[in-house]
Amino acid sequence: MEKLIGKFKQMLSLRHLASKGVLADEDLEIIEDAGIWVKNGKIVEIGAFETLAPKAHKSHIPIEEIVSGNWVLMPSFIDCHTHICFGGNRAKDYALRIAGKTYLDIAKAGGGILDTVRKTREATFEQLYQNTQNILDKMLKNGVSTIEVKSGYGLSVAEEIKILEVIKQISSESPMTIIPTCLAAHTLPPEFSEKEFYLAHLTEELLPVLSEKKLSKRVDIFVEPSAFPMDIARKYLENAKNQGFEICIHADQFSVGGSRLAVELQALSADHLEASTAEEINLLANSSTVAVVLPGASLGLGMPFAPARQLLDAGACVAISTDYNPGSAPMGNLLLQASVLAAQEKLTTAETLAAITFRAAQALALPDRGRLETGFWADMIAFACEDYREILYWQGQMLPSILWKEGRRLF
Ligand code: NIG
Ligand code: FE
Repeated sequence: MEKLIGKFKQMLSLRHLASKGVLADEDLEIIEDAGIWVKNGKIVEIGAFETLAPKAHKSHIPIEEIVSGNWVLMPSFIDCHTHICFGGNRAKDYALRIAGKTYLDIAKAGGGILDTVRKTREATFEQLYQNTQNILDKMLKNGVSTIEVKSGYGLSVAEEIKILEVIKQISSESPMTIIPTCLAAHTLPPEFSEKEFYLAHLTEELLPVLSEKKLSKRVDIFVEPSAFPMDIARKYLENAKNQGFEICIHADQFSVGGSRLAVELQALSADHLEASTAEEINLLANSSTVAVVLPGASLGLGMPFAPARQLLDAGACVAISTDYNPGSAPMGNLLLQASVLAAQEKLTTAETLAAITFRAAQALALPDRGRLETGFWADMIAFACEDYREILYWQGQMLPSILWKEGRRLF
């Protein structure tokens, strides 16, 4: 399949932008009246439509014409941290929380993660499949075409495998790229009383099966005294790395420690970071670990945002993700959350859009997407507007009207 698509009033390529640190809006490449040449799902060339069109005619390459009105084209979004395979919901927790109970209070009272674990264990494969698929449909309409999905509501070998099998099945049928991550180390399940023993059990009984059945290449852990403290998390992650897994960490959500461990172990990402101080910010900035901030969790919990501005100023690679989950972050709207975070933290448009495209791709070790550039996947969205600045301005209320995944128009 080879074609030229156009024309677009503006094309926001996100080419040539640094992979870490501060980004100025002056550095954004905006191609006016642009076209994009695609072959076998990948980008061959971008440029002025008037230059590309005669070349296409000459080589008998069809033109996919985008008619009527003005369009702004950019890479489609990448959500690099979600927990969308779950049963039930936690509306009860939310009511308690907005009335003043804390996240940890609710967990201690039998709500929280373990409540979703019960409901997820009760759910059949088909129910989980349908729930997750419904969420993915919504995400795609919001412009997300690559998404990470964590397990973590099974917390036993069989139940974690069930969840990862659901994700694998959906992934094989979905046009989206779905990256599965094992978060069996989300919290201690009721069947175990010893955290170290539970993690050793996962290391021996679960991780080898994941590799054998090709269910996941990534391992995550919630590092927090109430979940898994740093030292026993270190051992688990080292073992996971030795078995060939990439690692990422739920880090510094309520107290610091996780991000330090992420840097020490060269994790792909350290996610959350609401509690990070200058020390953690510097560690992350001087590492290759992506700092993933999750405004949806701050909004859901009514807590301060992670220090995205300071992370960027220090030189870190900052990605923004929804953390979409039934407890702390039930909203799941990436563009809305990125827009709100940008207003609150004073992020430039370039920094904000980078954080939900190529910098989020970096957190997933996917160097082949997130920019409109020769050799990259033609994963892209078009908004019906005249100026790229409207994309954040409408705070998630303007949806993309067109989405292409690997060059194929899905809507
Ligand atoms: O990333 N912090 C740990 N895990 C999730 C919350 C999961 C839940 O509450 O169900 C998070 O916010
Ligand atoms: Fe999370």
